[in-house]
This record gives sequence, C-alpha cells and structure tokens, in this order.
Amino acid sequence: MKLTTKSRPQTSDAKPHAPKRRTDRSRPSRIEHIGDATLYLGDCLQVLPFIAGINAVVTDPPYNVGYRYASYPDNLPPDLYLAWLKQCFEACATAGASQLLFTWQGIRVANGELPVCLPTGWTVHHLCAWMKREFAGDRWGSNHPAYAWEPIIWASRPGCARYAGPRGGHAARDALLANHHRHDGDWGHPCKKTLSVVRTIVNWLDSEAIADPWMGSGTTGVAALEAGKKFIGCEIDPGYFERACERIAASQKQMRLGS
Ligand SMILES: C[S@@+](CC[C@H](N)C(=O)[O-])C[C@H]1O[C@@H](n2cnc3c(N)ncnc32)[C@H](O)[C@@H]1O
Repeated sequence: MKLTTKSRPQTSDAKPHAPKRRTDRSRPSRIEHIGDATLYLGDCLQVLPFIAGINAVVTDPPYNVGYRYASYPDNLPPDLYLAWLKQCFEACATAGASQLLFTWQGIRVANGELPVCLPTGWTVHHLCAWMKREFAGDRWGSNHPAYAWEPIIWASRPGCARYAGPRGGHAARDALLANHHRHDGDWGHPCKKTLSVVRTIVNWLDSEAIADPWMGSGTTGVAALEAGKKFIGCEIDPGYFERACERIAASQKQMRLGS
C-alpha cells in the first residue's frame, strides 16, 4: 500500500530502507544500488513515499535564490517554496526520519521562516554554524545576501533529539571553523558541499540509515558510507545523478582498497 503523509510515521525500529510496494506513474525513473547506498533518480516528493526506515536526513535543499541548476528552476514564489520544503520534510518524517539536519540561509532563519517548513510538531534543538574561508559574494540573483557562513539546522521529532559521540558529540559541534572551504573539488555540480563539513555533521549522528532527498553530487552519500551507515539519496537531474553514482562508486572502491 502506498504510504501517504497521513499514515502513521515509521519509527526508527523499521527495517532500514525497506522499499514500499510500487504501484504507479510516480515510480523513480532509475534506481542504483552501490554498496550500502540506494540512489533514486526522480523528484523526491514522488520517491519518498516509497521509502521506509530512514533514521535521519542530512541535506542541503535548493535555496530558492535563482541558482542555475541544470534542470531545476530554483525560483519559486516564496510561499510556494516554503510550502514545498515542508511537504518534502513531512515526507521524510513519514519515511521514518526522526532527525533532520540541513544547511540553510541565515536570513530565512532570522526572518522566522524556519518553523513554517518543518514537519508539524517538530522543533529545532540545535543551531550550528559553518564558517567558510572564502568571500561568498554580495548578493544572489534573487537579491538574497550571499554568505560566508551558513546555519546548520538540527531539528527533530518531539523526544528524538540525540547526540552521538564523546560528550554528546560536543567536540567541534557548534561551529565548524577551520579548513572548511566553500568548495573542495569538482564533481560536476555548481554547489557541491564541502565533504569535510558533511562528514562532521554525519558523525554527530548515531543513526543507521541517512537520507538526502536533494543529493546533488552525492556528498552526503560519501560521508554516510565512510561512517559505516546506509545511505538513501534522491536527485531530480539525470546529469547530477550520474555524477553522484560515479562519485559514490569511486569512494566505495577507495574504501575497499584502503581496508
Ligand atoms: C543545493 S543542491 C545539493 C548539492 C549537494 N549537497 C552536493 O554536495 O552536491 C540541491 C539539489 O537538489 C536537486 N533538486 C531540486 N529539486 C529536486 C527534487 N524535487 N527532487 C530531487 N532533487 C531535486 C537539484 O538538482 C540540486 O542538485
């Protein structure tokens, strides 16, 4: 049966990433299994209803600043953008996620737009910062300020805030400062996130299965597999999807050679 956002949310006890029975038109156009990663080519809103057993989401949603992605416009009317984000995050919650970590724009946080896009009842329990080393520019195309730092929002389902690691993951958690360049290599994506930043975020979590509904070049996937976790990724653009597959496969090969 197709899971809808009205169904009872899956708990983290659910079998990691058990696919739901597929029925219809919204089937992802391609699915790749690479080691412990399952990668879906498609619109995350259509893919997520077929997934269960996600524990946490580590992601970097489109910012709606007119970024020139290959096949996503990134310029929705503001209200629609926030409603769409909420719908996607609700779908993650329904797929079992109880924690949600994502980089976002400080100005949106300052303007109080964050609660509007979280799943109903969820709260932010931590706000961290990623300080970039480079000047980021002054303005995005849509007149949003560009940032030399970005908030990392850590939200959870009520009662599910968890910190992993020594001292509750406190070491280097609140602000990621040194040696985290804005970009750290080219995997054919215009706004690939810095791997060392995403690695750090992934290692704050004790979750077994991590998802990224907007995986781009697959940075979260590389970090999750390195940390010994399962990864579920989704990307709408076929070119970026291809890059993510190649990158995750290369990283898996590297890990095998190193072990
Ligand atoms: C900010 S980028 C993510 C970059 C990624 N963190 C990385 O390191 O490469 C957002 C990505 O979301 C993708 N995207 C936009 N709408 C989507 C949708 N409905 N479903 C899945 N992916 C989507 C875009 O094509 C873009 O690659």
